[in-house]
Amino acid sequence: MASLDDGSIHRRDQARSVNPIAWRIAQMNERVRSAKEQDLYLYLQPAEAVDGAYVTINGRRMLQFASYAYLNLLGHPRIRAAAQSALDEFGPGTHGVRVLAGTTRLHVDLERKIAEFKQAEAAMVLSSGYVTNLGVIAALLGRNDVVISDKLNHASIVDGCLLSRSKFVRFDHNDMADLEKALAEVPGRSGKLVVADAVFSMDGDIIDLPEVIRLCRKYDAMLMIDEAHSLGVLGETGHGILEHFGLEDGDGIDIKMGTLSKTIPAVGGYVAGRSDLITYLKHSTRAFIFSAALPPPAVAAAIAGFEVIEAEPERIKKLQSNVDYFIKGLQERGFNTLKSETPIVPIIAGSDERAWLMAKIAQEQDIFVMPIVSPAVPAGTSRLRANVMVGHSLENIEQAMDVFESAGKEVGVLPS
Ligand SMILES: Cc1ncc(COP(=O)(O)O)c(C=O)c1O
Repeated sequence: MASLDDGSIHRRDQARSVNPIAWRIAQMNERVRSAKEQDLYLYLQPAEAVDGAYVTINGRRMLQFASYAYLNLLGHPRIRAAAQSALDEFGPGTHGVRVLAGTTRLHVDLERKIAEFKQAEAAMVLSSGYVTNLGVIAALLGRNDVVISDKLNHASIVDGCLLSRSKFVRFDHNDMADLEKALAEVPGRSGKLVVADAVFSMDGDIIDLPEVIRLCRKYDAMLMIDEAHSLGVLGETGHGILEHFGLEDGDGIDIKMGTLSKTIPAVGGYVAGRSDLITYLKHSTRAFIFSAALPPPAVAAAIAGFEVIEAEPERIKKLQSNVDYFIKGLQERGFNTLKSETPIVPIIAGSDERAWLMAKIAQEQDIFVMPIVSPAVPAGTSRLRANVMVGHSLENIEQAMDVFESAGKEVGVLPS
């Protein structure tokens, strides 16, 4: 039992008497302050310049290994020109929601382009990928439905499932037997939605799509796949996960979701699918109906982004060869990169402290990479998440791997 003078009772009583909201704010501020004090706070660093494979922060030009610019399209002249001309024609915003005064011909063109690119009948764009998952899952499901979600799905999917107020079931990561068990347990009359990332955003591995499709058909479930990290990345021509698995008839995924903020150098999210689905969503997704339309320059940049992916397939080929080179090189140096086979490459460090320290050492040696720590990933699997891009030369990749190796040795991730 605690003695009166060890301070614990006093602290507990103090915690109880404090407003819980104020307590939460204070806790977070304390964590941030402590990280800053130890010089380990690496978040929210403002870039002063972004050029191709490099980023300049605090006057240091570093090799970029933390971006989602997989095909390095940000500076593409065709995309810049499209954004500029939309700015000249329509201005920087729309002053309206899509259903009322916010739709321009560019929005219609973008939705048509996405539908064509994703081999779907129609598409809908929203203000971000996060909002798309939130809004679409909530619009589709009701209290008596069941949503079945991979345990490593992105936070926006999890939040969409919670917002839907349907029964939320999670299956073990990429474990098809566990998915089947979950499907078999759903009561007969409930609506069923299975949802998964195509490429998992922390581990870089790929969902077993052919098996997921087979199970969804067997149990009459709808399937939603988030292609945030597979658009422009997977498949020989970058059309995504169906192309990757040779399922090019476009069938099997009912709700094809993706973002316009990763390979596509703009902002926004989309869903593509049958036209009756999209009509339903355009008239029932609150995040679409009650939120402003995407800015025209972003819409025009997105259209041009899809066109460039189709016009320059050599970018995808080179990206895929950079991915192979990077993963093989890291594994040869002794790193655990989990089951990644995509540009998202986890370099497992173990504890949060090791991940923070490795990232800091790497940044001091001009490699901009970020740590991912618990609770974003399970405790003990904290990591660097190193994203490789088409703009990296083999020399750039070698340079980064040398830095990761020396940092890994310094913090004890690799034997020294
Ligand atoms: C798998 C996945 N889905 C959705 C999102 C959200 O997309 P956005 O950044 O466009 O809001 C992300 C963002 O990182 C993601 O990784």
